[in-house]
Amino acid sequence: MRKLSPLAYLRIPILFFAFLVLLEYSIDSGSEYAFVKFPLVGVFLLVFLFLLIAIEFTLKAVSNLNYTLLTEEQRKQVDADENLSLFQQLSKIFVKPDVVAEKDILLHHDYDGIQELDNNLPPWWVYLFYACIFFSVVYIAHFEFMGGDTQEQEFEKEMAQAKIEVEAYQKSAPDNTTEENVTLLTSPADLAKGKEIYDTNCVACHRADGGGQIGPNLTDDSWILGGGIKNVFHTVANGGRDGKGMIAWKSSGLKPKDIQLVSSYVLSLQGSNPPNPKAAEGEVWVEGATE
Ligand code: HEC
Repeated sequence: MRKLSPLAYLRIPILFFAFLVLLEYSIDSGSEYAFVKFPLVGVFLLVFLFLLIAIEFTLKAVSNLNYTLLTEEQRKQVDADENLSLFQQLSKIFVKPDVVAEKDILLHHDYDGIQELDNNLPPWWVYLFYACIFFSVVYIAHFEFMGGDTQEQEFEKEMAQAKIEVEAYQKSAPDNTTEENVTLLTSPADLAKGKEIYDTNCVACHRADGGGQIGPNLTDDSWILGGGIKNVFHTVANGGRDGKGMIAWKSSGLKPKDIQLVSSYVLSLQGSNPPNPKAAEGEVWVEGATE
């Protein structure tokens, strides 16, 4: 019995590995390997490996059978081929086949003196072609029958996932806003969030339009405790003068970020001139004039 060709020892691992990668790629098993998470996949892989080996042996058996039918001369040719090293066999995939007599492969037609040779296709080209056929079957099965995601669906899913992650990050990210580094927010989205906080916590004393009631008018340019984002942030966070009634919101449920939002909203009310405002109290604040 003649041995398996060295190419078989290369074909089996390559095909097996390709199949393994394909399975891992198409089965969603999180961070674990699919064959670890789903033992059935492991069984499936073993069966596949067994099949590969069986096919190699079958091919060999067929070629052995053929061998007995060959003439002495043909056998010599086959023996010579089989005695090539693995490297030589491999290089046959890329190197042009031996030159054959042109008259043997000349096709029997002639276009104005132009003739055609029936050359064999280069082996690498043929293998690539087989690989494409294999790929197309997997591709069609995956996307048409097993409901694989289209590019658009993949995009949507990734965006949704990213949104969840960003929200989770923002929840756990430390809130580092302080009265030293606080900045005035002006985007409509931020001001809308600030208004929400204001409407829930502040209208009772400052009125919905900021015109003032128990607390002072927040829409004029006079401030008891200083204007500008840093002072307003300080007042909202730490409260007003003792006994006046303005709460220190940093210890009453507002996070620094919320205080920044609501302070920015309060400052956006500057000059809005609501009807029946409370009379101005404190000093006119000019940004950057003091200090
Ligand atoms: C219980 C009533 C009350 C509530 C609720 C209240 N305030 Fe006040 N607020 C006051 C009073 C009273 C003052 C004046 C403090 C002082 O004179 O020291 C004041 C002062 C202020 C000042 C300083 C005004 C100035 O002229 O310097 C700002 C800014 C302010 N409040 C914003 C807010 C915000 C924002 C909220 C909601 C998160 C809020 N306040 C909720 C009563 C209140």
